[in-house]
Amino acid sequence: MNTANRARQSNNSFAEDDLLHRLQSDQAGFARISALAGKLAGIHLPATSKNLTLVATRLSYMIRELELATYSDLARLLEKTPERHQEFISALTTNTTQFFREPTHFDILKQNLPTLIQSPHRAVGEFRIWCAASSTGQEVWTLLMTLLESPATTGLTIKFLASDIDTDCLEKAWKAIYPADQCRGIPQNLLEKYFDSAAGPNHAGVQTTYYRVKREFRSRVQFARINLVEAFPFEKRFDVVFCRNVMIYFDRTTIDKISEKMAQALRPDGLLFLGLSEAGAIRNPSFKSISPSVFKRLEMGPA
Ligand SMILES: C[S@@+](CC[C@H](N)C(=O)[O-])C[C@H]1O[C@@H](n2cnc3c(N)ncnc32)[C@H](O)[C@@H]1O
Repeated sequence: MNTANRARQSNNSFAEDDLLHRLQSDQAGFARISALAGKLAGIHLPATSKNLTLVATRLSYMIRELELATYSDLARLLEKTPERHQEFISALTTNTTQFFREPTHFDILKQNLPTLIQSPHRAVGEFRIWCAASSTGQEVWTLLMTLLESPATTGLTIKFLASDIDTDCLEKAWKAIYPADQCRGIPQNLLEKYFDSAAGPNHAGVQTTYYRVKREFRSRVQFARINLVEAFPFEKRFDVVFCRNVMIYFDRTTIDKISEKMAQALRPDGLLFLGLSEAGAIRNPSFKSISPSVFKRLEMGPA
């Protein structure tokens, strides 16, 4: 690297440090950003020192890219440009997921399928499932494999909806292409049955194996953008809802509102799965816990 480049790089890194430092100490700007995150996606960001650091780190890239200087600049721009909301929400949340994440839930689903399917409340001939914060799709394909591998679903039409607030994630989920290292959790027999494979260079140019969910299985899932803090757009109810590892972003009031909407979206005896760390989130009397973080929709309340 020549001297001019080195000087430019160290100037950049001083500028980055400076921006981070300014954002971290800008409490008024943080309050504005946090209010906007709450309004747009229900994301609850109290002004703790952990959140001040986290949000500064996560938004500094966006602020720099947009050639802005402060949170207030960003808030003003976001108020005028709804097309940037997605990038903002995406910067504040994580899309972490994996195949067979929290595997106990897939065992519980498998064990409960015969009872779910025999229920008099189920729509005839169909099994309806919603994966409500599906991120980049690993959870969706794990669920589809679990359902298709169970003899209990033989002869049923599986109606599968996957949704997320983030359309970039939805596109990745729909494309369903994953590098081999992300597929380690998939048993070999399922990998061979449900995936095609191909070789190609990764982002660093290294030759890698990629797996893609076969078209015949991809076509069984519908994808839609759904923001959980807005009204749910459903006419028919679901037998099962997976809504895992997203409640962590919401405050008590928002969780209670979402739980109420989930109670409306599930038919009686249907099951709601939250993330393992979200077991305490549901306080709604329409639900009974059948295992930590798994809830049965009771018959009481509006059916
Ligand atoms: C940590 S990932 C969880 C992925 C998957 N459910 C799992 O457990 O592996 C959280 C997902 O929630 C989504 N999300 C955040 N706020 C949301 C909202 N208001 N409505 C819908 N999805 C939201 C994010 O885009 C992200 O993909």
